[in-house]
Amino acid sequence: MKTFLKWTGIVLGSLLVLAIIGGFALYTKGSRSIQAAHAVEVAALTVPTDSASLARGAHLAGVFGCVDCHGDDLAGQEMGDAPPFRLVASNLTPGGIGREYTPADWDRAIRHGVGQDGRALFVMPSGAYNQMSDRDLASLVAYLQTVAPVENEFDRVEWKPMGRILAGGPIDVSKGVHAGTPPASHPDADSTAAWGEYFAMGVCAYCHGPNLEGQMVEDGPEPILAPDLRAAGQWPAEMFHEVMTTGVTPDGREMNPEVMPWTMTARMTETERESLRLYLASLGPAAPTDA
Ligand code: HEC
Ligand code: HEC
Repeated sequence: MKTFLKWTGIVLGSLLVLAIIGGFALYTKGSRSIQAAHAVEVAALTVPTDSASLARGAHLAGVFGCVDCHGDDLAGQEMGDAPPFRLVASNLTPGGIGREYTPADWDRAIRHGVGQDGRALFVMPSGAYNQMSDRDLASLVAYLQTVAPVENEFDRVEWKPMGRILAGGPIDVSKGVHAGTPPASHPDADSTAAWGEYFAMGVCAYCHGPNLEGQMVEDGPEPILAPDLRAAGQWPAEMFHEVMTTGVTPDGREMNPEVMPWTMTARMTETERESLRLYLASLGPAAPTDA
């Protein structure tokens, strides 16, 4: 009996030591990924000052969903506090990071997912913004520079020990880092399919897949299918606009805006939304075997 207890103790003790060593190795690896500096190329932006561009920038902060995470006043907010991390969307106003951000810093963060300090931004969906045109980005930056300053403590995501261990394993910290080359200009938002293509292939494709034919979204609260958008392109126009402004699907289910950000399409002008619909319609119906 005594020997048995002794051996059990040795085995359990060794396992504990191994777990601690393993956890420590992951913790170190994770901390290194969080701290790692990423170099990306940024554009030389000319930030406009005219009132039309500022108004366009304010509109884009809604259409691109910045306000959904950073708050209506863009002063940031806590998005959750869990054992791995305290998730904070930064205060973008001149009372927060806006005070120090240069146009190059804005580009690095928004289109490439890298903060001023070179660290990868977590949860910030730069993969959806990488194809934002220079012109749209410049209008957005012009607007961000003029919003009312708010002072608060919404700075960066706080990584706790458990989060650092996860960052050494399943969590890909630099998932949002995008080094792709964004376009300099974009089609005007008139009611042709072209503007819709710009927006759909940039933003909607981030979740609905590279050719909008649907894919699993794995990084939300739970894995969920972002369906094939060729189907929505075949809906009657009225139905498409209704779903995209209310978030209620044709079968009467309200979609969670944190999962499917219909708040973005709800803020579009009718012309922009129609342009999006025309582009999706131009893709043609999904092949029956794909369903
Ligand atoms: C899904 C939520 C979400 C959306 C949508 C979003 N952000 Fe973020 N953003 C975040 C989070 C979370 C962080 C903090 C990341 C970190 O600290 O690692 C962040 C960080 C940033 C930063 C870097 C701030 C810093 O602390 O250095 C900038 C700039 C930024 N976002 C701008 C924008 C703009 C502009 C938009 C719209 C085009 C936008 N974000 C849309 C969640 C979001
Ligand atoms: C952050 C990820 C994400 C982005 C970005 C996104 N979607 Fe979705 N979308 C989803 C998910 C997930 C669902 C499924 C939601 C559900 O079933 O509750 C969905 C559902 C939909 C539906 C309902 C489809 C159906 O057949 O019922 C439509 C339409 C839609 N999205 C259109 C769009 C358009 C247009 C864009 C770009 C403006 C877009 N989505 C951007 C994740 C996203």
